[in-house]
Amino acid sequence: MYRSRLGKDLDDITLSYVSSIKDDSDIAFYDIIGSEAHVIMLYENKLLSKIETKKILTALEELKGGNISQPDFEPEDIHELIESLVIKKTGIENGGKMHTARSRNDQVALDIRLKIRDDINILLQCLIETISTLLKTAQENTKTIMPLYTHLQQAQVGVFSHYLLSYADSLLRDLDRFMSLYGRVNQSPLGAGPVGGTSLPIDRDSTAKLLGFASLVENSIDATSTRDFVAEYVANSAIMMTNLSRLSEDFIIWSSAEFSFIELSDDFTSPSSVMPQKKNPDILELTRGKTSQVIGYLTSILTTTKGLPSGYGRDLQQIKSSIWSTSKTSITALIIIKSMLSDLTVNQERMQKATEEGFLVALDLAENLVLEKIPFRAAHNIVGNLVQLAHNSKKLLSELELSEIESLRIKDIKSTKLFELIQKTTVSSSLKQRKSKGSAGTSEQTRMIGQRTRKLVTLKKSVKTQNDNVKKSLTFLEKRVKTLTK
Ligand code: ARG
Repeated sequence: MYRSRLGKDLDDITLSYVSSIKDDSDIAFYDIIGSEAHVIMLYENKLLSKIETKKILTALEELKGGNISQPDFEPEDIHELIESLVIKKTGIENGGKMHTARSRNDQVALDIRLKIRDDINILLQCLIETISTLLKTAQENTKTIMPLYTHLQQAQVGVFSHYLLSYADSLLRDLDRFMSLYGRVNQSPLGAGPVGGTSLPIDRDSTAKLLGFASLVENSIDATSTRDFVAEYVANSAIMMTNLSRLSEDFIIWSSAEFSFIELSDDFTSPSSVMPQKKNPDILELTRGKTSQVIGYLTSILTTTKGLPSGYGRDLQQIKSSIWSTSKTSITALIIIKSMLSDLTVNQERMQKATEEGFLVALDLAENLVLEKIPFRAAHNIVGNLVQLAHNSKKLLSELELSEIESLRIKDIKSTKLFELIQKTTVSSSLKQRKSKGSAGTSEQTRMIGQRTRKLVTLKKSVKTQNDNVKKSLTFLEKRVKTLTK
C-alpha cells in the first residue's frame, strides 16, 4: 500500500522478513481504538466531515468486533492491514483520510503504550493477590519455627512467617516500581507524526484525553523514538521474576525428601515417565527457567535501542514480541505462585526438629553472655568452644553436662552460670527475646503482618482507581463512537 515511490512490490521472502503482522495481533485492538480517537479528533478539527467520520468509525467498529478478514495481500503490519481494510469498506475517498496527520511511527508507539498500560494494571492486580496470599500464609505460620540460612548453612532460629513476609516485601517493591512506571507509560505519543509533528491543525491533548492518558509525550522526536518505557517495563518484570525465581528455588529445596519442610500440592508437580514414585516440582523449575528468558528479553531490548540514531528505526519493530512474552510469563507466574502458596502443606514438626537439632541458638547464647557484661568477641569465643565440644561429643548445647563445661576452663564467667544460661537459651526463648525491628522475633511478626496488610488495602484502592480511570475513558470513547455512527 505504501510503495508508490518504490514501484514494485516486495517478493514473498523479503515481505515476510519485513512484516510484523504475526507479532501484531496483541495490539490489533489498541490500533483500532487509537484510530477511533484520532478520527474523532480529526472531525472535531474539521479535517473530516461528519459523513466521512461516520463511515470510517463504522468500519473500525466492525473490525473491533473481530471481523479482521485475511487480506488478499500480505500486509507489512497491523497498521497497514487495518487502514487497507477501512479503505476497502469505505472507499479511498473516505478511508483514505484516516491516516491524515499521523504516521505509523506515533501509531505503533501509541499501541505499545496502550498495551503495556493494560498489562501493568493486570500485573498490579495479580501482585496484590499474591502478596495477600503471602500475608495470609504468614498469619497462619507465625509460630512455625524453622532454621534461617546463610550460605545455605543453618544460621539463626526463625519462623516461616518471617520468610514469607520477606517475599511480601520484595513483591511490594515490585508493585511500587510498576506503579511509578505507570505514570511514565500513561502518556500519549499520538500526533507526533513521523518525527517532527504536522502542519495540520490537530489537537494532541484531545486524543490523549479520549484514550485516558494523563498527559503527552510532548517532544515529537522523543514520542516516536523512545522505548525507555518498554525497557523499564521489562526490567521491572525481570526483577519481579527474579524474586519469584528465588522463592521457587527455596521451595524446590524444601520440598525435597531430605528437607521435607513443605509439600507441594499435586497440581503443581509432575510425575516422571519412568519412576513411579516421583513428584517433581516442574512448575517452580519452569519459573526459574522462564525468568532467564525475561532477562534475555531485557537484554535484547537494550541492545536493540542502545545504538539507534534518533528518530524511528525499523529495528524497533523487533522488540514487540519481547514485550508480549514478558507480560504473558510474568502474569502467569504470579497467578501460579499464588495458587501454589494457597495449596501448600507446611510440615511444622519437621521444620522445628531441624531447628532444634542444630546449633541455631549459638548467637542468642552469645548475646545472653553480652547481657552478663562479657565483651561480644569473648562471648563469641566461648560459644564457639561450647559448639565444638558439643559437636565432638555428638550432643546438643543443652545436653552438655556441667563437668564438660568446666573442662573448658572459661575465665570470663563461672561454669555454673554458663550452664544455667545454656539451659535458659532455647529456641522459643530466643524468638521471644528477639525484639529488634524486622527480626524473626514473635512480636515483630504480628506487627509486620498488620502493617503490610493495611498498606495493601490502600494500594488496592489506588490500583482500582487507576484501572477505573482507563475504563471510564474507554467507555466515554465508545459512547462518542456510538453517537457519531448513529
Ligand atoms: N511495523 C512497524 C513497527 O512495528 C510500524 C512502524 C513502521 N514505521 C515505518 N516508518 N516503517 O515498529
